[in-house]
Amino acid sequence: MNHATAYANANIAIVKYWGKTASDFNIPVCSSLSMTLSGLGTTVSLDRNEQRLSHELVIDENNASVAATQRWNNYLEQVRTLFPYQGHIRACSSATVPYASGLASSASFFAAAATALNHVLNLQLDNKQLSRLARLGSGSAARSIFGGMVALHGGEHCDHEDAFAFTPVMHHSLDLHMVVAMVTTQEKAISSREAMLRCQKTSPFFDAFVTTHTKDFTQSLTALRNGYFAELGQIMEHSTLKMFGTMWSAQPAINYWQPQSLALLDIVYALRREYGPIAFFTMDAGPNVKVLCQGVDVPVVVKAFAMAQATSRIVVSGLGSGAQIINVDTP
Ligand code: PMV
Repeated sequence: MNHATAYANANIAIVKYWGKTASDFNIPVCSSLSMTLSGLGTTVSLDRNEQRLSHELVIDENNASVAATQRWNNYLEQVRTLFPYQGHIRACSSATVPYASGLASSASFFAAAATALNHVLNLQLDNKQLSRLARLGSGSAARSIFGGMVALHGGEHCDHEDAFAFTPVMHHSLDLHMVVAMVTTQEKAISSREAMLRCQKTSPFFDAFVTTHTKDFTQSLTALRNGYFAELGQIMEHSTLKMFGTMWSAQPAINYWQPQSLALLDIVYALRREYGPIAFFTMDAGPNVKVLCQGVDVPVVVKAFAMAQATSRIVVSGLGSGAQIINVDTP
């Protein structure tokens, strides 16, 4: 099988992964919890050819930038050390999620790529093993292998085997939705990879982020299991703001926020003052704002955001499915 096409949804972290261990295997320094989003993701087609002299990457029918091609090449060469194969691989990707704007495009890309590689290299990996393979490309990609709410093991003492994703228990009463408010879909100036490294090296708050993180992660799993929506939302905002604390205190400081981002956060605070704990925000390495709410409250959140005119696009996602193969070579 030399060709395979796979699709993976993006995921948004509820409890953030921020920082890596010294290992070469892209291991997060802390565990994380995320929601896989329906309808926002990336399709990746792979073609392996023994005559091709280098790996290639095509994004939306254009050759990828030098930096993106280099990252793809490094990924495939690391995969080759774990699972030896012949030839080189060309990837063509198309996404319903904007590229590199803090909307987890790399997570959905590498989850789809790992899923397609499983077939192209005939690896026969299960989802737990696939999550490790996806993590080598992007830490958060491990979580997009699974659907719904997903956790990823991380920590200073984790090795490649330990750092896999899994599905935690979720209470049946939760009807979790994410309202994604796009402020801009422009590519970010600093990648999350570079930003987290700088924070880890230079922010005086980074150690505090890590030491307080285990409590957030453990409590988030308990809230999810017991159906405590408001507690889950509070932990998410706390984890988000602690992560940004490390960015603003890095040297040089990193800022992804735009005036519209702050305007949207104000709307979330106003919604809570009016209706109680129905909506909680999160942001990642970009200016876009995502709001966690329950299905019944989606209309009020969307209406408030639409009225504010601070967004270029609003997308509502429920719990999305895990990465899937769409098409493979017939043997
Ligand atoms: O997987 P990466 O390298 O794109 O980093 C993801 C970092 C955050 O999105 C900010 C947090 C997370 O847990 O997804």
